[in-house]
Amino acid sequence: MRLLTLLLLLAVQFSSQKSPNIAYDLSSIAESAAPWDIDGPCQVYVERLSVAIGSIVQCAANYTIPPKVCTNCIDEYIKYRHVEYDTKHLDKVWSLDNSTCSDVIYRNYLLSYVNELSQAVDTRIWDISRCADCISIEWNFENQTSSFHYSDNVITFKDKLELWRACISNYSDVGSLVDQNNTAICVNCNDLFTDLYKFYWTIYVTPNVQFCVDVETTMNDTVRLWNNVWNCSTTQDRKREFVPVTITAGLLVLFTVFFYLSSYIQGGGEVRRFVQYSTLADPRPARQHLLSTSASETNMSSRASRSSGSTNPLSARRPRANGQRD
Ligand SMILES: *[C@@H]1O[C@H](CO)[C@@H](O)[C@H](O)[C@H]1NC(C)=O
Ligand SMILES: *[C@@H]1O[C@H](CO)[C@@H](O)[C@H](O)[C@H]1NC(C)=O
Ligand SMILES: *[C@@H]1O[C@H](CO)[C@@H](O)[C@H](O)[C@H]1NC(C)=O
Ligand SMILES: *[C@@H]1O[C@H](CO)[C@@H](O)[C@H](O)[C@H]1NC(C)=O
Ligand SMILES: *[C@@H]1O[C@H](CO)[C@@H](O)[C@H](O)[C@H]1NC(C)=O
Ligand SMILES: *[C@@H]1O[C@H](CO)[C@@H](O)[C@H](O)[C@H]1NC(C)=O
Ligand SMILES: *[C@@H]1O[C@H](CO)[C@@H](O)[C@H](O)[C@H]1NC(C)=O
Repeated sequence: MRLLTLLLLLAVQFSSQKSPNIAYDLSSIAESAAPWDIDGPCQVYVERLSVAIGSIVQCAANYTIPPKVCTNCIDEYIKYRHVEYDTKHLDKVWSLDNSTCSDVIYRNYLLSYVNELSQAVDTRIWDISRCADCISIEWNFENQTSSFHYSDNVITFKDKLELWRACISNYSDVGSLVDQNNTAICVNCNDLFTDLYKFYWTIYVTPNVQFCVDVETTMNDTVRLWNNVWNCSTTQDRKREFVPVTITAGLLVLFTVFFYLSSYIQGGGEVRRFVQYSTLADPRPARQHLLSTSASETNMSSRASRSSGSTNPLSARRPRANGQRD
């Protein structure tokens, strides 16, 4: 029994001593030092791109709450695009087998991490934030002197926002904006708030014109401050609710119009057939015939008068139209 335990202990010790050796030294795969590094001359360009991608990604991550990548990370984005342009045009630098470094970085391997990351930056950060709706970039890749400007709508929004904020600060005690007499803020800055809100909604409901996520989140947070922190919507008289109610009503009308418009366009064929039915057969004679056979002679006159009431073209056609749609 003792011997068996000893043997078992030995076996355990043996295997536990052995286990570190199971982890092979993979440095010959993990690293490719000279003379094995066929792509050695290209490595420095990959690392340059990696730094550029790293800083735009870090900037976007830093500005996640609220998401405002367009206004905060525009410099990092332009820098990254410049470096990416260079990396894609490395035609004068070669690997040991004379592939251009651009080919090595983007095409020679099944997978290119920098390419995947670049696409993520472009689609999952920049495009998804709709930055193009706030910022126009005039690219100059050759000389790396791209410039940008904000759209007029953004500048107008910013001006109105600053006016409102100045008003809030004006009526706030120095220090915290949160703990103070809200009544003064709500009453005195109401007009500026309404002006800002109206401008935002005008853009918001205009087709084909929109703001980037930066402006949307700024407006959202402004409304949250106004309503939830300073309680202006409840402190104020109900006049404040007039604007959202009007907008909701307007949107409802708009949706209704769109709904009928789209069903009209989609059901174009049905509408035409429907029109043909109405011109083909006048349902009146058949109806009157049915009535005259089913009805007794005595109340014929009252039925006839009612049936003439129902020969109104709309009420006569409607059941057919419904039948067609089903
Ligand atoms: C992101 O935040 C970290 C920590 O504050 C800071 O060191 C870094 O510079 C920021 N990066 C960018 C791109 O803003
Ligand atoms: C690469 O090009 C250089 C100069 O054009 C040439 O000397 C060298 O032999 C080439 N190497 C290979 C592997 O083709
Ligand atoms: C870049 O700069 C050079 C010299 O300053 C100029 O000739 C060229 O037109 C510029 N390229 C672009 C695309 O602006
Ligand atoms: C700040 O308050 C003063 C007086 O209370 C007023 O005259 C001035 O117009 C206010 N400024 C803003 C930006 O609201
Ligand atoms: C808040 O301000 C209003 C108007 O300026 C004033 O009438 C009211 O007494 C103030 N309330 C407090 C608690 O200071
Ligand atoms: C703004 O708030 C609304 C309602 O809470 C939300 O649906 C919308 O996604 C928000 N917009 C942004 C850009 O966060
Ligand atoms: C705002 O209203 C909520 C509840 O209606 C209340 O709990 C909160 O203290 C109010 N905040 C201020 C600053 O008056």
